[in-house]
Amino acid sequence: MIRAIRGTRDILPPETALWNFVEAAVRDVFRVYNFHEIRTPIIEDLDLFRRSVGEETDIVYKEMFAWEDRGRAESEKGGQWLALRPENTAGVVRAYIENRMGERGLLQKLYYIGPQFRRERPQKGRYRQFYQIGAEVIGPLAAGSESPAVDAEVLALLAALLNRVGIRDWKLELNSVGCSEDRPRYNQALRNALADTLGKMCADCQRRAVTNPLRVFDCKVPADQPIIEALPRISDYLDAGCRSHFAALRKILDAQELPYTINDRLVRGLDYYTRTAFEFTHGALGAQNAVLGGGRYDGLSEALGGPRAPGIGFAIGEDRLIMTLGQSAEAIATPPDVYVAPVGEGMDPEAAGLAEELRRHDLVVELGNESFRLKKSLETASKLGARFAVIVGENEVKSQSFALKNLGTGEQVSVARGDLPKTIQANRT
Ligand code: HAM
Repeated sequence: MIRAIRGTRDILPPETALWNFVEAAVRDVFRVYNFHEIRTPIIEDLDLFRRSVGEETDIVYKEMFAWEDRGRAESEKGGQWLALRPENTAGVVRAYIENRMGERGLLQKLYYIGPQFRRERPQKGRYRQFYQIGAEVIGPLAAGSESPAVDAEVLALLAALLNRVGIRDWKLELNSVGCSEDRPRYNQALRNALADTLGKMCADCQRRAVTNPLRVFDCKVPADQPIIEALPRISDYLDAGCRSHFAALRKILDAQELPYTINDRLVRGLDYYTRTAFEFTHGALGAQNAVLGGGRYDGLSEALGGPRAPGIGFAIGEDRLIMTLGQSAEAIATPPDVYVAPVGEGMDPEAAGLAEELRRHDLVVELGNESFRLKKSLETASKLGARFAVIVGENEVKSQSFALKNLGTGEQVSVARGDLPKTIQANRT
């Protein structure tokens, strides 16, 4: 038997009803914040992720699904390296540059919903194909893209999104990770601090300490944690600009009474971040407790060869969001209003006609089959959770009056064809 590949899974009904509920709700929140949807390809040039997410990150170093495409021309040796996107900020910023989206001088407020791919070790809440609901705000400096007010609005949007889908007990962890001005000083401080203890650390950390010391904070090896805990704090190395940006953001959040805690160990596992970095956690998730993460990336557009275009965004793990909902899919899935049961030979076309008529009245209709006996039709209707069954037999067709059975109460009445829609609608819950 061929099975779904490791780390991927099928999302089946009725659970898909939950996914649709969440997606419809978040689209509605994005709408009132004046965000617009962007759809970018799932496959991109591998270099895009190397240059944005970063060579030394676990995502790029260990978790990419990447392959060398066939040569573009017969004569060409080797092909382009392609990758399944592990995240979507890089793709959105590439699209921003490529489509010159900053030219009108406005902030671009974009959102996306879609699959991402990382070759991680699968466990509860961690998949190789997972889904993100994300947003990016990016634009030229003159559009106000660097303002802490944008950060505050993005965080307010997130709180609204979570509240809207019914998640209340989230926690916002906030930090500033500085910028390209102060990062070299902090990297040097990390290298100095690591100089004596590095030999005792894992091979990954030994490599990271040389190439990209900030990535040491991504280490999960238990033995390394006491060393990492003693490292200098990024908050002590922020320059004046980053400090005042962070202070201004906090002032707005405080005024809006948006609760947060400062976590000065939060550096996020992607290289493009500058200044504001954040995660929202939820207790119900256990070890993989980050339901979403995000931050600023003021230098990313330029790093990808684009114009100066500061930005900030986030991505919610949709799989995890749905895990925290605690709402049962059955509760929100809509069962059929009515099961149309043809009884007797030649009744299929009559039943099909009636089913179409009822659907035009916005009723959810399941159509039976004349090969079923009445008993089997009624059993099927009950299994589906239909509220009513309408019986289409020869007599009913002749009189244009149909037996309508309430499957909850067992009560059966005869209803004129034209009165069926309103009779069924009146009993909708
Ligand atoms: P990230 O922290 O790598 O950030 O991912 C965001 C969220 O995606 C995580 O908090 C988690 O909920 C979910 N997630 C990540 N990996 C998996 C997985 N293997 N299985 C299930 N869920 C997962 C980003 O991707 C950035 N692009 C966010 C961003 C947007 N920053 C700025 N703009």
